Amino acid sequence: MKNIIDEIKELEKTSGHLEPSIEERKKNRDKIIDYTEDFINNIYNINAFNLTDNTGEGLLDTPISEEPIGIDKAIELFKDNVDFPNLNPASGGHLGYIPGGGIYNSALGDYLADITNRYSGIFYAGPGAVRMENMLIRWMAKIVGFPPETAGNLASGGSIANLIAIVTARDALNIKSKDISRGVIYLSQQVHHCIDKSIRIAGLGECEIKFVELDDNYRIKPGVVKNEIEKDKKDGKLPWLIIASAGTTDFGVIDPLDELAEIAKENKMWFHVDGAYGAFFVLSESAKSRLKGIEKADSLVMDPHKGLFLPYGLGVVLVKDKHKLNAAHYYKANYLQDAIAIEEEPSPADLSPELTKHFRGLRLWLPLMLHGVKPFRAGLEEKLLLTRYFYEELKKIDGFDMGPEPELSVASFRYIPKEGNANKFNQLLLHEILKDGRVFLSSTKVDGKFIIRIAVLSFRTHLQTIDLILKILKEKVELLLKDWK
Ligand SMILES: Cc1ncc(COP(=O)(O)O)c(C=O)c1O
Repeated sequence: MKNIIDEIKELEKTSGHLEPSIEERKKNRDKIIDYTEDFINNIYNINAFNLTDNTGEGLLDTPISEEPIGIDKAIELFKDNVDFPNLNPASGGHLGYIPGGGIYNSALGDYLADITNRYSGIFYAGPGAVRMENMLIRWMAKIVGFPPETAGNLASGGSIANLIAIVTARDALNIKSKDISRGVIYLSQQVHHCIDKSIRIAGLGECEIKFVELDDNYRIKPGVVKNEIEKDKKDGKLPWLIIASAGTTDFGVIDPLDELAEIAKENKMWFHVDGAYGAFFVLSESAKSRLKGIEKADSLVMDPHKGLFLPYGLGVVLVKDKHKLNAAHYYKANYLQDAIAIEEEPSPADLSPELTKHFRGLRLWLPLMLHGVKPFRAGLEEKLLLTRYFYEELKKIDGFDMGPEPELSVASFRYIPKEGNANKFNQLLLHEILKDGRVFLSSTKVDGKFIIRIAVLSFRTHLQTIDLILKILKEKVELLLKDWK
C-alpha cells in the first residue's frame, strides 16, 4: 500500500500544476488582459484584413510536448500566427460574408461559464443554467412572435441550428426511408449552403430538392411554389418541406414569409425559416414589418453571433411545437436515470444532439443584463441606415451598377468599365481592396456575374467606416482604370 500512496503523491505533484497558484493565475491573467486591452484599444486602427503568405505555420515550430512554454511565448505564437494573418473579424471594417461581432461582455460571460463550468445540458444537474438558457429562448420566441411554449436550443452556430430544425421537420412529418425518393423540398438557390448540407446530413439528400424560380430581387415567387406543389401532388410526389430565408447571405433579402407560411399550412407541410442573419432585425421598428410572417414558421433559426454582435459560437433554433423538437432528439440511458423526467424546464440534452455542451447561455445573458436591449436595437437600426446611406452614395458615382435595393443590411454592386471584361475588373477591384486591408469585402457570383457586396453587421461599423469604404472604392477604381484596357 505504501508504494501506491507514494506513487499517487508523486503524480499529484505533477498533476497539481493544472491548478495554478494565485500568483501564477494573476501573472497569466494579467498578460492575457494586457494583450486583449491592447487589441481593443487599437481595434479602430488595425486592419480588417492582412493579405500575407503567413498561414500560421509558425505554430508548428513549437510542437505539443511534455514540457510547458510559458505565457509570453504562448501569446507571441498566438499573435504572429493566429491574430495577424488574413481576416480580423473583430474589426468594424469587416463587411464580408456575414460579419460576426465580439462584444466584450459576452467574453466575460464565457469566462464566467468556463471558470465555474456549470453543466447546462440537463436541468437536474444545472437548474439555474438550464433555466437561464430557456429564459433566453423564451425571450427570442417573444420578439419574433412565437408562442411562450416554444422550445429551442442554443447551438454553436447557424449551421447546427438549421440541422436541428431539419431533423425535427423530418420526424414531425414522419418522413421514413420509403418516403424519401417521393419527398420534395422547396427552396431558393439563394439559401445558405448549410441548408443543403443539413438536408444531406439528415439523410434527406435523395429527396427532390426543388429550387423554385425567383423574382428580380432574388426572392422566392410564392405563386410558383403553390403551382409546383399542386403539380407534384398530382404526380404522386410528397411535398413536405418549404424552406425560406429571412435575409439571404448574398443580398440580404427576405422571402415572402407570410405567403409561404400559408402555402405550407394549406398543404400540411413544415415551414422552416433560416433567419440566421436577418431574424434579429425584428428588434428594429423599421424592419419589423418586412419580416411579417416569420411568426408563422414551424421552426426558425436566428444567430446571436450575427444579429446580436456576439463572438462566434451561438446560433439558435426555435421550434413552435416542443414535442416535435423533443421527439426528434429524445434519448434514454440507464446511467442518466436520475436526470430524466423533470418537466419544469426542458433540458437542452433532450432537444438537441448534444449531451455535454458549453454553457452558451451566459455569453448572451450577461450582455443583455449589462446593456439592456436598447443598444442592440439601436445598433441594428444603425446598420440598416448605414447600408441605405452606402447604397445611395455609391449609386451617385458613375460606373457603379447597383444590386437590389437593400432590404436589410447587405448591398451589392459591380463597377462596369466602359470597355473590357467587367468580371475581371471587379475581381481586380476586390483584390486591391484586400491588399489595402483597411476594410474587408467579399464577392459572390450570380448569373455568371462577379458581384462585390458589403454586409453591415459588425457592432464596430459606423458612419466613418462607410465613408472610408466609399473613399477606398473611388481610389481603387481610379487606380485600376489607369492601366485598364
Ligand atoms: C443565412 C445564413 N444561414 C446560415 C448560416 C450559417 O451559420 P453559421 O456560420 O453560424 O454556421 C449563415 C452564415 O453566414 C447565413 O448567412
